[in-house]
Amino acid sequence: MIDLDNTDITGIHTPDPLRYAFKRKGGAHSGGGAVPIPASDTQMRLNQALSFSTPSAGARCLYVHVPFCRVRCTYCNFFQYASSKKMIDEYFEALVIELERKAAQPWTQAAPFHAVYIGGGTPTDLSAEQLEQLGKLIHQYFPLTPDCELTLEGRINRFGADKFESALEGGFNRFSFGIQSFDTKVRRAAKRLDDGDAAMRRIQDLVAYNSAPIVIDLLFGLPHQTLDVWQRDLDGYRESGAHGVDLYQLIDMQGLPMQQMVEVGKLPAPADTPTKATMYEMGVNYMAQHHQRRLSCNHWAKDNRERSIYNSLAKTTAEVLPLGAGAGGNVGGLQMMQMRDMAQYIDSVKAGQYPVAMLMQGTGNKALTNGIRAAFDRGVLAREALNRNAGWDCYSAAMPLFEKWQTNGLVKVSQDYLSLTLAGEFWNVKLAQNLINTVSELDKQRQAA
Ligand SMILES: C[S@@+](CC[C@H](N)C(=O)[O-])C[C@H]1O[C@@H](n2cnc3c(N)ncnc32)[C@H](O)[C@@H]1O
Ligand code: SF4
Repeated sequence: MIDLDNTDITGIHTPDPLRYAFKRKGGAHSGGGAVPIPASDTQMRLNQALSFSTPSAGARCLYVHVPFCRVRCTYCNFFQYASSKKMIDEYFEALVIELERKAAQPWTQAAPFHAVYIGGGTPTDLSAEQLEQLGKLIHQYFPLTPDCELTLEGRINRFGADKFESALEGGFNRFSFGIQSFDTKVRRAAKRLDDGDAAMRRIQDLVAYNSAPIVIDLLFGLPHQTLDVWQRDLDGYRESGAHGVDLYQLIDMQGLPMQQMVEVGKLPAPADTPTKATMYEMGVNYMAQHHQRRLSCNHWAKDNRERSIYNSLAKTTAEVLPLGAGAGGNVGGLQMMQMRDMAQYIDSVKAGQYPVAMLMQGTGNKALTNGIRAAFDRGVLAREALNRNAGWDCYSAAMPLFEKWQTNGLVKVSQDYLSLTLAGEFWNVKLAQNLINTVSELDKQRQAA
């Protein structure tokens, strides 16, 4: 039985579900279950997993984390360390050791990787030489598919021609820049380092190389970002010529510098959820009006150059081999988080250990939870794929919930597909999590019966 009176699961019946279906959006990701492995066993278990030369059932990705930024942006929870040349050099040295060691494992060599993502933090704070070396080492040591996507994430600040050309020389073939807003007032309040015109010019310059897809992130809901400013940010995306864009709503978590600044009156409050819903609607309509190709609920491409392979794979059953302090991944059914503390990370790597802070055995049906998450991210869930992953007809079992969501304006349901409405797209993470929980409950009831 599904609790169809629980509005946190079904949403509220309202004439305006986009803005008011739920009280609050959930976190950025909906998760599945996992059981921690005792610290005394982590090295042995990870070593075991990497000793098998079993090709992955699905695709494989490599994720490399670079936890430095020159300045912490007020809204960001990813900040770990302030960039300093000395620290970055020490880190890079340890990263190369970890890279060589993990690349040599039988598991790594057993099948090619489809996508590589260098994320952060701000990987573009690495020097030109380090960027080139990192790209070349990955090509040299890892088996890669011929069309492997290698993304370098970062920002335009101090990312000059030398760094871009070195990164291209190293084999990076996709670049993702956090722009957030082209508006100088919004940027300054968020402690972004360059003004809006400089950000625009730099993206235009990088696009003009015509060497690799350049994609940008825009945030909506930042302090000072009125609806007019947001409209100009959307125009800015097209004016920049970027090959693709992610539109992310601001998640205002506890403890961010922004929150403290709002509390003491130094910043106006960020947008509330109904306003962010309006901004999302503006974004979706804008992209449709300008014939941008939709890749997911939050991501659009101008043309076929942008493929966004890593983002779509990492959300499904792809295995992700993590490298670097604070990186997360999953290999052979094990989920892992690497040490975040820089000194601990470097010591661990130099002592010949895997720098893993937390290792967990995935429980439950990962293909099912990841499949649901990926489907909601794309905006459509197929009966056939859901039932195949579940191993039973859970589409039919969940139908009362789907019908309730349809009554509440969140989805359109047919015999074979559940497609999200605009409101459903805005609430997609919440809906995915609710379905994951519901399916798990229904499965328990089915097995008990
Ligand atoms: C962790 S950053 C790394 C990229 C780069 N350092 C930059 O300055 O954007 C990647 C993306 O996370 C997103 N992000 C950061 N803080 C966020 C928040 N509070 N809510 C939503 N998205 C956020 C931003 O859009 C950003 O582009
Ligand atoms: S948005 Fe990027 S540059 Fe700013 S603090 Fe977060 S990770 Fe660092």
